[in-house]
Amino acid sequence: MGHKKLIRFQAINSFTNVLQYPENMKGNWHVFFKNNNPITLELACGKGEYSVNLGREHKDRNFIGVDIKGNRIYNGAKIALTEGLDNVAFLRIHIGKITEYFAPGEVGEIWIIFPDPFLRESRSKNRLTHARYLHLYQQILKTGAKINLKTDSKELYDFTVETIAEQGCHVHENLVDIYGTGKATGPLAIQTYYEKMHLAEGRTIYFISFSLPEGEIKMPERFKKDGTEEPGA
Ligand SMILES: C[S@@+](CC[C@H](N)C(=O)[O-])C[C@H]1O[C@@H](n2cnc3c(N)ncnc32)[C@H](O)[C@@H]1O
Repeated sequence: MGHKKLIRFQAINSFTNVLQYPENMKGNWHVFFKNNNPITLELACGKGEYSVNLGREHKDRNFIGVDIKGNRIYNGAKIALTEGLDNVAFLRIHIGKITEYFAPGEVGEIWIIFPDPFLRESRSKNRLTHARYLHLYQQILKTGAKINLKTDSKELYDFTVETIAEQGCHVHENLVDIYGTGKATGPLAIQTYYEKMHLAEGRTIYFISFSLPEGEIKMPERFKKDGTEEPGA
């Protein structure tokens, strides 16, 4: 591990706003934040630009950036600490375990920002808008809560549009090329590290916002109802 990465890993151990694989947080985030304000998750948060920027704008809401990589989380966590943003925290976990950290209805909104698109079909189950993940989100979201995806990947965008149609999700907004349509305002104007790289390469940025259906998420073949794979699949 590089020297800088190591220093960051050590630093986050002492950051009061970073929780790494914590125990007993499920249903207890209001205790951590010392209020009952609604909670927004930024999944695959990387450096946490959405959590920090939304946290600055909305002091009456709480924001949690979620990522597996501690050295990336360091960036947003350091800014939040320096600026005294008590409504911003970071959770270092695998998103596949999200239901171990949030109780039913504990989350009011999800942002998924430039997640890895997992282009190979054999890895599509890892896409954060795969039915397996929607099934997990359904267990922690309030009814009707929004899930917002921003991506430069046409493949991931098309996959998501198809998945949410199959699941009977309600679509709130669907933008192909947010900059071309002049809709990159408000939260959509926040640019992350990856977004800046993609824009520099001239890539198109897609956005879709949707809510899950009230009924059960339908699993594709090969998966059991709980999202785990059938043996031998
Ligand atoms: C392409 S980066 C995007 C980071 C950031 N959102 C941005 O736009 O700059 C994807 C991030 O997702 C994280 N990630 C991917 N799969 C994950 C998972 N299953 N659980 C937690 N983090 C994950 C990676 O560690 C990485 O930081």
